[in-house]
Amino acid sequence: MSGGESPRGADLLGLAEMTGEEILSLLDSAAEMKRALASGTSRAELAKKTVCLLFFEPSTRTMHSFAAAARALSAQVVSFTAGAASSTAKGETLLDTAANLAAIGADVFVVRHRSSGAPERLARALAARGGPGRPCVVNAGDGSHEHPTQALLDLFTLRERFGRLEGLELGIVGDIRHSRVARSNVFGMTACGANVTLVAPPSWMPEGVEALGRRPQSRGRLAISHSLDEVLPRLDAIMALRIQKERLGAEPGPSAEAYAAEYGLTEERMSRAKSGCLVLHPGPVNRGVELAGSVADSPRSLILGQAANGVPVRMAVLARCVRARDGRRT
Ligand code: NCD
Repeated sequence: MSGGESPRGADLLGLAEMTGEEILSLLDSAAEMKRALASGTSRAELAKKTVCLLFFEPSTRTMHSFAAAARALSAQVVSFTAGAASSTAKGETLLDTAANLAAIGADVFVVRHRSSGAPERLARALAARGGPGRPCVVNAGDGSHEHPTQALLDLFTLRERFGRLEGLELGIVGDIRHSRVARSNVFGMTACGANVTLVAPPSWMPEGVEALGRRPQSRGRLAISHSLDEVLPRLDAIMALRIQKERLGAEPGPSAEAYAAEYGLTEERMSRAKSGCLVLHPGPVNRGVELAGSVADSPRSLILGQAANGVPVRMAVLARCVRARDGRRT
């Protein structure tokens, strides 16, 4: 989402290409949106615009917070959801659905899809059709690829608590291999100067994952570990990830019990963390697996704050995309 003139400048497909400055400026805009929500000031950035939610995978937080964000900017919201068990084909059906909704008059497509790269394919297809003012595409989670607005709301929540991101020591623990949340967070956190340690059993740590931290945008370090107990005492915050059962298939990996014993955020394990170490989780939470219910409900937990911050962060993203689109000359 760099310049307004670039063909895909009005889309948010991932954080991989974004610089720390671009991310921080979005977080500043989200802070302004949050103040407006708190004071009840109405915003009209998306008045007369239609935001189409295209959800081909289940969602609770993401879909509802995009809808709330769009409405808070005075947009019309249209929802299209396809159940996880539906036989909806990947890619093509999304393109067909979107082409029809674009014909009816959509300004923004918010897309969640089980196929990595689906939002990008949609953006390319819309761009190829040409013409001014094609709808913007915002990625709401694609396969194991990226979930940029989740990472932005995580960054927003961390910055709100610590007053900065630069120099923070952050951990992400769980099924790193299949986690779009982990990938987007690695890009965002390191671009903003935080140091990240990924923690997972060997079978859930993708080979070569260190390369994600070696991009021109990365300012923080990226490390990997297989031992949460070694890493935890130096972390300012730890993010637990859900075990992505739907993406694991027949792959080998620990049972839920074995995972919880080594990597679960139990009260006992958290007693060995820094006293101010905060806990994040993108949801949905499996209590007793990734973290104990008592940890999820403890003062360390930012989980409900993350969900609440999803609304102003998505307002900032939608407003930025539509502004970039409307400023585009071609
Ligand atoms: C995440 C997702 O769908 O990627 N959830 C979310 O958007 N809040 C994480 C998950 O499903 O585990």
